Amino acid sequence: MYLGLDFGTSSVKGVLIDAKQKIIAIASSPLKVSRPQSGWSEQNPEDWWKATNKVIAQLKAAKPKAIAAVEGIGLSGQQHGATLLDKDGKVLRPCILWNDARSFVECQEIMAREPRAVPFTGNIPLAGYTAPKLVWVKKHEPRVFEKVAKVLLPKDYIRYRMTGTYGSDMSDSSGTYWLDIAGRKWSDMLLAASDMRRDQMPELFEGTDPTGQLTPSVARAWGMPKRPVVAGGGGDNAASACGIGAVTDGAGFFSIGTSGVMFVSNDRFSPNAERYVHAFCHAVPGTWHQMGVIVSATASLEWLSGVLQTPAPQLTRALGTKVKGPSSALFLPYLSGERTPVGDAQVRGLMMGLGHETDRNTMTHAVLDSIAFAFRDSLDALRAGGATINRLMAVGGGTRSELWMKIMATVMGVPIDLPASGEVGGAFGAARMGLVASTGEDFRKVFTKPKTAKTFTPEKSASAAYDDQYRRYTQIYPAIKEIRLT
Ligand code: XUL
Repeated sequence: MYLGLDFGTSSVKGVLIDAKQKIIAIASSPLKVSRPQSGWSEQNPEDWWKATNKVIAQLKAAKPKAIAAVEGIGLSGQQHGATLLDKDGKVLRPCILWNDARSFVECQEIMAREPRAVPFTGNIPLAGYTAPKLVWVKKHEPRVFEKVAKVLLPKDYIRYRMTGTYGSDMSDSSGTYWLDIAGRKWSDMLLAASDMRRDQMPELFEGTDPTGQLTPSVARAWGMPKRPVVAGGGGDNAASACGIGAVTDGAGFFSIGTSGVMFVSNDRFSPNAERYVHAFCHAVPGTWHQMGVIVSATASLEWLSGVLQTPAPQLTRALGTKVKGPSSALFLPYLSGERTPVGDAQVRGLMMGLGHETDRNTMTHAVLDSIAFAFRDSLDALRAGGATINRLMAVGGGTRSELWMKIMATVMGVPIDLPASGEVGGAFGAARMGLVASTGEDFRKVFTKPKTAKTFTPEKSASAAYDDQYRRYTQIYPAIKEIRLT
């Protein structure tokens, strides 16, 4: 048996698979995000650990024998978060998450201080990345900064609690802005650009490598007497790619969760910093990937659901399942700023075209449309960098809305397939990495493409209207970018 754990922003998920990759059990436990100021986003690492233990307890209650037979565990996690530990492994402050926009000035400072950084990494530093967060901490919380002995990404903090080791994988570490992405090793030049040192970094592994074993006490508490090995794992997007077999050159997919990601796998490091495409290591050896990142995808719908005090599934259900054309309102989903294609952490969202007739359905529809437009932006950015994408697989919680998937297919003009294992995206990919780390099997044989459960095709009768609306959408940001409310 093999276990995949995915530390997402809105929940921790666990999926248990057998040696033939059949899903035996799934469990999840929700997480909350704290937003102390506009653009800030934090979580308490202890809450991840508590949620992880709840997930294990659920799996154990449902399948005690299967849990007792676990031999390998893989980890997937929200990327970029800065979990700061002191010399005794104690957490120094809440983790500053990937969708926290506070450190935009610090990105400029890193570039000014080290002009070689952008050409070297093939990426423009963004507020979401880990390095500018540490520059911010140094400036605003110097007493915390002085005590930082290790910086861990969210899934790597849980690895530390599980195994007692400080380790990370290449895909997730790419998002720190401290990794030599082409060379797959820490870069002293990049570390120095944000006053960090190599001894503050965890040891690096490939996602399919074993990084340690459950400690005897965690193994006892979790009911896993075999003390399973823990694989390097991956950032949630690379782990999802492993889950749907997107590990060969040109294989692409998109993920619609709290964030939205348009992803393509590459057999070599392919920087394409224009339009803020991220070029990172993949979670498997000798492989890289590019991605466009939308900071608030289902997070935009969750925001509307909070404002309207109505659960998101109820909002989307009210729209039915037929694509009739775009909403009369237009939404710009930049609630925490945006990465691809604008790289602007200070901009905020906008709803336009409001009239007395605008109701809850119009607004929900506008939010669904806008995320599809944002994905089209990312798809165009990847295509401009040379990717050939004619068909896409989709994973993540947002795929549960049939209408949304049909709108996506129509806006992007490509068929969209849902894989049989789609909803467990990163967790399933992590379970596969746990299998490879524990058995030593060839990852190419394990990371196969899953069966297609459903396909959505573009709704031709609505394509022209959506093309027009997309053109209007692309005009909003250039028109408002100089207007700042704070
Ligand atoms: C990727 C990114 C997000 C998070 C979401 O760069 O920041 O996709 O990984 O969990």
